[in-house]
Amino acid sequence: METGHDSCINRMNQLIHEVGNVAVPPPPAAPVTPVVPIGRHGACELFAKREDLVDPLGLGFKVRKARWTFARAEADGVTDVIVDGVNESGCCAAAASLGAAFSLRVHVFFRGHRPERPAGRLLQTIGSATSVAFVDPDKPALTAKLRKADEIREQGGKPLLIPIGLSTPESIWAGIELAAQICTYEEEAGIPFDAVIVAVGTAGTAFSLEVGGFLLGRPWQVVGVCIDDESPADYSLVLAELRRDAQALFPQLPDAGDLEFACLSDHRGYQIPSARAAEEARIVSDRHGLEFEQTYVAKAWAGGLEWLAEHPDVRRALFVVTGGLS
Ligand SMILES: Cc1ncc(COP(=O)(O)O)c(C=O)c1O
Repeated sequence: METGHDSCINRMNQLIHEVGNVAVPPPPAAPVTPVVPIGRHGACELFAKREDLVDPLGLGFKVRKARWTFARAEADGVTDVIVDGVNESGCCAAAASLGAAFSLRVHVFFRGHRPERPAGRLLQTIGSATSVAFVDPDKPALTAKLRKADEIREQGGKPLLIPIGLSTPESIWAGIELAAQICTYEEEAGIPFDAVIVAVGTAGTAFSLEVGGFLLGRPWQVVGVCIDDESPADYSLVLAELRRDAQALFPQLPDAGDLEFACLSDHRGYQIPSARAAEEARIVSDRHGLEFEQTYVAKAWAGGLEWLAEHPDVRRALFVVTGGLS
């Protein structure tokens, strides 16, 4: 008999087959991350998808994005990838840690100041990247990235500029992979979700989950929770580009999705702590022993609970723990 696992993975493999010329990466350290129940919110049963367990560094879903992106890059003969992010960036850390596995050199531009004694994730990223530089945090890093790309070309290499948040066209496959795992859980546990809640940085993760849900025939509402004080309209450019990429791969996708954006009521800037998110994260930690990363996950969790309070019809919701502690 075909199990839920087989049927969802088969459907994903069929999509890969239909698209053709897809560079499929080898699976990550933990190919399938668990779904765990995490209590109730009103009438809604809550579950968490532990993407923070996908790799030993807790880089989570960014590892899936990097794997699919790097597999394509390697197949295309790319020699060097160029990324940028804040000092604590999970994208930069994921890119740096995975470069060697795909025979890629990884150049990182940190939008921040070099601390006297780098520590934690920054230190790890510096340790595994081919080169690092710190650029003015108030300016886009594009000029520096383009200059690096020229340098690499002059030396006979083939550079690839990675967009912010690792939201590349290939990262759409990472979302489909995640959606296939969610759908597997639903079929095996007999628990269908009404909503899937996820943090929004560039909105690439939320969008690719929506694409995956659509292609695998899952009717979830994907709710993207903005974790800073930008308006959802600011995501429209990234989304429009990703939607074009996705439609080029899958002509059956509708022109407009139903991705919903939610915000946390004490809407704060990027990396600015939210008292409300900290309190909700403490409750989850006390009750379920789950420690939420603060910049994205705790804010998305608290914003997701607020969204659920306004949607009492949602009976089962899945919260994607996109990454672990930095
Ligand atoms: C832990 C975590 N969750 C969510 C996101 C947001 O992902 P996206 O940029 O695809 O919206 C990030 C991005 O850096 C992240 O590090």
